[in-house]
Amino acid sequence: MILDKRDKDSILRIAVLASGRGSNFEALCNGDTGNGRISLLITDNDEADVLRKASALGVEALYMSPGRFRTKFGETEESEWTRLLMDRGIELVCLAGLMRIIKGSMLEEFRGRIMNIHPSLLPSFPGLHAQKQALDYGVRITGCTVHYVDADVDTGPIILQKAVYVKDDDTVETLSGRILQQEHIAYSEAVRLYCSGVFTDSGRYILKTEE
Ligand code: GAR
Repeated sequence: MILDKRDKDSILRIAVLASGRGSNFEALCNGDTGNGRISLLITDNDEADVLRKASALGVEALYMSPGRFRTKFGETEESEWTRLLMDRGIELVCLAGLMRIIKGSMLEEFRGRIMNIHPSLLPSFPGLHAQKQALDYGVRITGCTVHYVDADVDTGPIILQKAVYVKDDDTVETLSGRILQQEHIAYSEAVRLYCSGVFTDSGRYILKTEE
């Protein structure tokens, strides 16, 4: 599939799905996303800090039930989330600390239009506690990855990555902090490039034509 360069004036509506703190959501709202606009935040956690951040930024924010499971959506609930995204005219879905796997209707409807940010250089250290996994393993370089979401965990085609050196005296907190700074830069950059239509998607390789 080749995406055409997009009309520079047309606004592309983006939804962020998040479960917690919301620093990537905030960075996307404040970053240069080109003609992409963060126009909706949905959370599966009605106590998430990201709800307060959305209200401070004037972005429509909703809590929606994810269903009765802990790490995935119930079938009905995933359909409800998907329906809402479609009703709101959402073009791109950005997962930002959503602690839940997407497998059903959302993936079908938005395949190739769901991005995730992960705090390691994938395919190393997928899943939970990626920064601790990297420290425990003893790697000297780690970082973050923006990738498309597919049916497995952290396995989709890689859009871009930023590297971070591990220091001898790093703790999970200090390393996570430096990775997070790169996450904020990487996510806006990936979204801006997506919205400008420069990506050529050929299977696992996301190539970039001239901006
Ligand atoms: C970020 O570090 C993100 O990479 C990570 O959760 C954090 C959310 O922070 N996501 C994952 O580990 C997904 N596997 P934020 O709520 O401040 O954006």
